[in-house]
Amino acid sequence: MKNVQLEVADQIATVTIDRPKALNALNTETLSELKECFSELEKQKDVRVVILTGGGNKSFVAGADISEMVNATPAEGRAMSLLAMEAFNKLENMPQVTIAAVNGYALGGGCEIAMSCDIRIVAENAVFGQPECGLGIIPGFGGTQRLARLIGKGRAKELIFTCDRIDAQEAYRMGLANKVVPADQLMRACQEMAGRILSKGSYAVSIAKSMINAGMDMDLNNALKMEADAFGFTFSTHDKEEGMTAFLEKRPANLTDF
Ligand code: HXC
Repeated sequence: MKNVQLEVADQIATVTIDRPKALNALNTETLSELKECFSELEKQKDVRVVILTGGGNKSFVAGADISEMVNATPAEGRAMSLLAMEAFNKLENMPQVTIAAVNGYALGGGCEIAMSCDIRIVAENAVFGQPECGLGIIPGFGGTQRLARLIGKGRAKELIFTCDRIDAQEAYRMGLANKVVPADQLMRACQEMAGRILSKGSYAVSIAKSMINAGMDMDLNNALKMEADAFGFTFSTHDKEEGMTAFLEKRPANLTDF
């Protein structure tokens, strides 16, 4: 792949969107590479956490590539949106836990791909925003939907209508960022959180993730029924047996993957 780098070590995959000269802006080629990369990762059983970051030290992702969109037709614009949605839906729903390591600008499509991750750990110099309305378009990589679900309708409307940029601390106050850390500690902070997740039952974590994701699009009663079914199912796993027995025997649990 040309614009996306993938490294795997100790059950953690690090995906780097790497076009630093364009502040990692997402063109069609990069979106296709991301889709391919996420398709590959979702099949890899030895990967349990995926960390997504941007190449260089200034930007996570500065949005969709404006130089590519400037002459696009409505059909081409729609196709670009659908391609990104396919890639971002894969990212959002992969069985692994995904952490966005936001190392600078997360504007437009950058904010949208960060929101498709489960968790956002952000450097102190991170800047979030949805500048699309200032370009005469709307957020088209899921922003009108995921931002409202994440921080609420009122705040999402304010950010999208004003195109205001917000800093890391403001993103944290709004619930857009899970944690703010000094820039030079960003990857370490992501790996440290990944490590804490890796020590838990990976099967349980993966089921919990899919319950949260699926439940957000359901009514509460049906979502609770779905949770009860999945909860019952976890009682058939080795990890449940081992986790509870270890607790009662006052020893560390040796959780596997089922
Ligand atoms: C293409 C981009 C880009 C982008 C930056 N660059 N963002 N190219 N698309 N989104 C390029 C610049 O043209 C420039 O190239 C180089 O990266 C460095 O950027 P500068 O502007 O010189 O850097 P700086 O002055 O530090 O400003 C950083 C910035 C600014 C604040 C992030 O670049 C900026 O406002 N970028 C656009 C942000 C944006 O509007 N994003 C939303 C896009 S719409 P050269 O060749 O001159 O060095 C979107 C829609 C999603 O995301 C849905 C679509 C369907």
